[in-house]
Amino acid sequence: METTRTALITGASAGMGLAAAELFARRGWHVYAGARRVERMTELAALGVRVLTLDVTNSESNQAFVNTALTEQGRIDVLINNAGYGEYGPVEDIAMDRVRAQFAVNFFGAVELTKLVLPTMRGQASGRVVHISSIGGDLYTPLGAFYHATKAALQQFSDTLDAEVRRFGVRSVVVQPGGTQSEWAQVALATAKRNTALDSVYRPLVEAVDRLLSGRTASATSADLAKVFYRAAVAERPKRRYLNSVGDRLVVWTARALPNLYRSGMHQGIKRLAK
Ligand SMILES: NC(=O)c1ccc[n+]([C@@H]2O[C@H](COP(=O)([O-])OP(=O)(O)OC[C@H]3O[C@@H](n4cnc5c(N)ncnc54)[C@H](OP(=O)(O)O)[C@@H]3O)[C@@H](O)[C@H]2O)c1
Repeated sequence: METTRTALITGASAGMGLAAAELFARRGWHVYAGARRVERMTELAALGVRVLTLDVTNSESNQAFVNTALTEQGRIDVLINNAGYGEYGPVEDIAMDRVRAQFAVNFFGAVELTKLVLPTMRGQASGRVVHISSIGGDLYTPLGAFYHATKAALQQFSDTLDAEVRRFGVRSVVVQPGGTQSEWAQVALATAKRNTALDSVYRPLVEAVDRLLSGRTASATSADLAKVFYRAAVAERPKRRYLNSVGDRLVVWTARALPNLYRSGMHQGIKRLAK
């Protein structure tokens, strides 16, 4: 008889994490879904998902999240490091405590949870860690320096980890969503405004980006990305990177293969915005 597989998903109170928790539960997995706003996860609980309070910046919280799953299921097949947000604003203006907060959630949280599940996965001789990066792990836009830095760090971390644990049957892979309907953009724009003083020389750029992005709706939905998370979690021969659309692949390819072209396009865009 096949055992029911167990997945741990962080940042499951909104957006892609919420959609992924629902998808894995509907496909018959034991799902452990963590976030700080558990009051928003009652529908998941009704589906049989185990909803747990989780703050990925807190070591005790991370330990309790992993221990609960392990005590109840005795195994962990998949960890999805999805919790994340954009701490946006100009490099010169963002306070160091906000820089540290960005790394605490997007990078160190994922690192700590990964380290907590590895002994179990290695002991099982199977398991997969799926890191939710971004197309912004390869490309960059102004005001996103620290967000891009955390996602690039996550990608390097994943590749190195994969090289270390593959021989034990454990794999580490990366999903790179592009713009996706969720609460992400609203949170990132709010941080950009909070991190930039009204009289800052960078304020006009922040206002222009806000005007540009406020009215826009991304074409991909969180449910679309949940399917990509699922593919990354179960593929028999996992790829290093998972992207959702041809457009996302093209922009990542351009940023990597034609960096000077990407950069000059970016500078022209900023000039137009700053006018
Ligand atoms: N949407 C996009 O366009 C886009 C594009 C590329 C990559 N991404 C990445 O995709 C992932 C999911 O984002 P999303 O678009 O679904 O955003 P979202 O709708 O804002 O959801 C973010 C989730 O992260 C959780 N989170 C934030 N801080 C946390 C913490 N300290 N501890 C635990 N959970 C925390 C939030 O839960 P609580 O606040 O309740 O804790 C929420 O459930 C993120 O890593 C994001 O960077 C998003």
